[in-house]
Amino acid sequence: MAGYLSSDNRKVTTHRLIEMKQRGEKISMLTSYDYTTAQIVDGAGVDVILVGDSASNVVAGNITTLPITLEQMIFLGKAVVRGVKRALVVVDMPFGTYQASAYEAVTNAIQMMKITHADALKLEGGEEVIESVKKIIASGIPVMGHLGLMPQSINKYGTYAVRAKGDDEAEKLIRDAKLLEEAGCFAIVIEKVPAALAERVAKELTIPVIGIGAGGGVDGQVLVVADMLGMTNGFSPRFLRRYADLHSVMTSAISQYVEDVKNCDFPNEKEQY
Ligand code: KIV
Repeated sequence: MAGYLSSDNRKVTTHRLIEMKQRGEKISMLTSYDYTTAQIVDGAGVDVILVGDSASNVVAGNITTLPITLEQMIFLGKAVVRGVKRALVVVDMPFGTYQASAYEAVTNAIQMMKITHADALKLEGGEEVIESVKKIIASGIPVMGHLGLMPQSINKYGTYAVRAKGDDEAEKLIRDAKLLEEAGCFAIVIEKVPAALAERVAKELTIPVIGIGAGGGVDGQVLVVADMLGMTNGFSPRFLRRYADLHSVMTSAISQYVEDVKNCDFPNEKEQY
């Protein structure tokens, strides 16, 4: 079988991710939103599984990540956790569950952890949400930060273009990354920023920086599973490498099924009782 399968079957922890950075081992991370996919992703050796709020787009068909609710993320998080043995499972806190106050943030975070049994949570933002991040970490919940392109703020940006190309935004991103590290985050996702900036952040932090559209100079990579498997078509940002064309594979299998049903070829004598 092609690929990289770790011989280390121990559960991945936040501490082990930091050790991986220290010894220069890159961290692999993918999203999953359901039990069956999570089993495959975990079995293939991915280190971190993110129950991303990109489920709002991929699972629910919304245009943005904003509509997905805490209850919906909890439902998906529970299903993914049941399918995973080795990977660290991180669940996204959805839009509106941690911005209003640190009190609301920690209350929602505790509910998420109690019901899903996930290992950690991810929040978007730096200085603006730092009190929420601190309060959640103080309650004993590991937090992954998320900077650069933050899809929950799409209405503020107005576009999904590359972030932090200018000096002011780049300096703020570096400041925010350091604030998140000081607050106790165990890792940070940096999305769609110039590779040189992401590499600089990864060098200046002791915690792992996981990139998406942020070049190869960071400590790990994350992609949305449906994108890298080629289930989604019509979404082709430069950073996306497609490892399969499941859209074609599934379409041809399903159209064959339709044909077999129509022609009375399915089920045959062996496929019945
Ligand atoms: O929700 C998500 O899938 C994410 C990744 C793109 C990092 O946040």
